[in-house]
Amino acid sequence: MEIITRRGARTMDQAEFDELRSRYASTLVDLGTGDGAWPRRFAREHDNVLAIGIDSDRKALQEAAKMAERKPARGGAPNALYVAASAETLPPELHSIADWITIYFPWAALLRLILSGDEQIADILDALSAPRARFSIVLNAEAVPDGFEQPDPASVRKSLKAPLETAGFRVTRAEWLASEQAPPTTWGGRLVKGSGRAMVALDAQR
Ligand SMILES: C[S@@+](CC[C@H](N)C(=O)[O-])C[C@H]1O[C@@H](n2cnc3c(N)ncnc32)[C@H](O)[C@@H]1O
Repeated sequence: MEIITRRGARTMDQAEFDELRSRYASTLVDLGTGDGAWPRRFAREHDNVLAIGIDSDRKALQEAAKMAERKPARGGAPNALYVAASAETLPPELHSIADWITIYFPWAALLRLILSGDEQIADILDALSAPRARFSIVLNAEAVPDGFEQPDPASVRKSLKAPLETAGFRVTRAEWLASEQAPPTTWGGRLVKGSGRAMVALDAQR
């Protein structure tokens, strides 16, 4: 698969990835990670977790990798990894590896898949999830693509019901989030600083 380091893109093959994973007790996968701040932060707080950020935006991932490859005393995290891929075409190396999948403040294609309850969500979860995986999403309810209604907890639960069931997940929480509950991502920080825009959170468990 294509990983992004501070020097640019390179290939990490299955054997190298297996060796890397074997050093950690569990794996977080953050889809649509953007600048990758959340997996880096999680990796720093949990040194027994491999935290993987995935995005199709290679430029953003290179900035993420630059931060992660700093010395730990300067904000780095040797247990953070950045993979260039789109959610719809995930590399086979990532099959069944994720104990926790997060999607925070998605936009564009990823947001449309969620709001429409597209069956591709089932494929994505099926591809990434370990047997007892957890799945968490947080949406900015006020940034909606053309042609979609503003989501609320009930509508997100309803649209994801079928793909979640197909992938073997059950919903454990669907609710509005107060701004102080925003996940610690860059976009979460922007929204909190903004005008108290509404966030919808959904959690599910396999
Ligand atoms: C608003 S940013 C949020 C970034 C980060 N999660 C945060 O909260 O700061 C949305 C990200 O989703 C990514 N994205 C959108 N569609 C995607 C897709 N189909 N596959 C992978 N990444 C996608 C974009 O490249 C962008 O980095």
